[in-house]
Amino acid sequence: MFPIQLSNIRFTPDGRTVLTGVDLDIDAEGITVIIGPNGAGKTVLLRIMAGLQTPHDGAINWNGDDNPATGIAMVFQHPVLLRSSVFHNAGLGLKPFGLSRAEAKRRTLQTLERVGLAHRAEDSARLLSGGERQRLALARAWAMRPQLLLLDEPTAALDPSATDVVEGIVREIRTDGTRIVMTTHNLGQAMRISDDIVFLANGRVIERAPTSRFFARPQSNEAKLFIQGELPWRISFDN
Ligand SMILES: Nc1ncnc2c1ncn2[C@@H]1O[C@H](COP(=O)(O)OP(=O)(O)OP(=O)(O)O)[C@@H](O)[C@H]1O
Ligand SMILES: [Mg+2]
Repeated sequence: MFPIQLSNIRFTPDGRTVLTGVDLDIDAEGITVIIGPNGAGKTVLLRIMAGLQTPHDGAINWNGDDNPATGIAMVFQHPVLLRSSVFHNAGLGLKPFGLSRAEAKRRTLQTLERVGLAHRAEDSARLLSGGERQRLALARAWAMRPQLLLLDEPTAALDPSATDVVEGIVREIRTDGTRIVMTTHNLGQAMRISDDIVFLANGRVIERAPTSRFFARPQSNEAKLFIQGELPWRISFDN
């Protein structure tokens, strides 16, 4: 699947520019965090990488293949949970894999164990707290053992302790060999967890750099202002 190469991606629904001229290479290892203001196009970019959204122009290929391979999982900002047990929800992603019932059960329970929810397996998923729901969504994706995991603001509504737990799980998934690309508005989290940063603003990749360099020496004025919390909400496309 790797490298995944996006070239000159343009997404312009109803003639409105959401992404333009986006080039991005994703190699096989690590955690890349995409940051940028609200509306910058981060979620759209993840959806394009997942093969869920077709760009209006440009190309994406997965190691030379122009179809998204299997092996991609995405966790949305507000994961959909069915009105059924934690166990059932955790195993949903395995349905297309053709595993035996016993193997699917084993994998599901093992993954619930790893996110600390095995003791809740028989509970209704609707009883879970926000942090637990997010862990369940991660378990559902992790059970599929994806090569690439796309996470859209996985800790958006979580308190610091729940955030810490989710960051630990994300690190473990990476240690398992899964490539991770995620978005966050939590710059502390971006610093703690990522190997490199993609800074998106105004529908463009303004900067991409190893994490420590990005935060210590941002190259663009936009990135400097964003890190300081002073980037205007939306820069004009005429700039
Ligand atoms: N399918 C679509 N059709 C039309 N407009 C869309 C579509 N998907 C996204 N957009 C628009 O594209 C812009 C960027 O959206 P996106 O959700 O990617 O932003 P974001 O960077 O993830 O923002 P946030 O930080 O608030 O999550 C928004 O103005 C959104 O309304
Ligand atoms: Mg978003």
